[in-house]
Amino acid sequence: MSHRVVVLLSGSGSNFAAIAAAARAGTLPIDIRAVVSDRPDAYGLERARALHIDAVAVPLKDHPDRAAHDRALMAAIDRYDPHLLVCAGYMRIFTPAFVQHYAGRMLNIHPSLLPDYKGLHTHHRVLVDGARTHGCSVHYVTEELDGGPLVGQAVVPVKPEDTEEALAERVHRAEHQLYPEIISWHATGRLTLVGDVVHVDGVPLTMPARRTYPDV
Ligand code: GAR
Repeated sequence: MSHRVVVLLSGSGSNFAAIAAAARAGTLPIDIRAVVSDRPDAYGLERARALHIDAVAVPLKDHPDRAAHDRALMAAIDRYDPHLLVCAGYMRIFTPAFVQHYAGRMLNIHPSLLPDYKGLHTHHRVLVDGARTHGCSVHYVTEELDGGPLVGQAVVPVKPEDTEEALAERVHRAEHQLYPEIISWHATGRLTLVGDVVHVDGVPLTMPARRTYPDV
């Protein structure tokens, strides 16, 4: 049975592209049924169309408030009956009803080594702090912003000469490897959430899986 995935994004969609490439290459056993965005002009929607994947915009301005917008998003997503909802650069905060609806089947990627640097502008804040390492985290989404149970992280070095752009690009390259791997665990039934504890192969995860990639 194919593992139906819907991707939710607001921007460029490079993570979506990496996930779609892995699916196409046969290393990630999923069927991306649709890409859904709050922004009709998101480049990620264009990427989806180019791959003949349904691209659906649900603009906030068409709805009276966030709750109504999230309900419309849920309706758009549930048409595809996903096993997994993959947030890949979706830049809005979900209502509790949305989070509860997808409990245990919604992953997010965040550009920092959580719990450090929750929120926005992570690369800038890392550089201002003079941190030596940075990275990205994949976690289940809960009502706590950037606070859901962690599944995996990739660590990247911060170089003395780094600009915000150079660092962001390095983190992106790590994201493009980490996210497909974690999604494959979900697709093959290896990854589950039991209460608020992540299990891999039936064993509770005491620490997120850590990756370093030589080529980032
Ligand atoms: C990624 O770096 C992702 O970690 C981040 O948005 C970027 C999307 O890039 N997500 C967040 O900041 C969520 N809080 P992409 O559109 O090129 O995949």
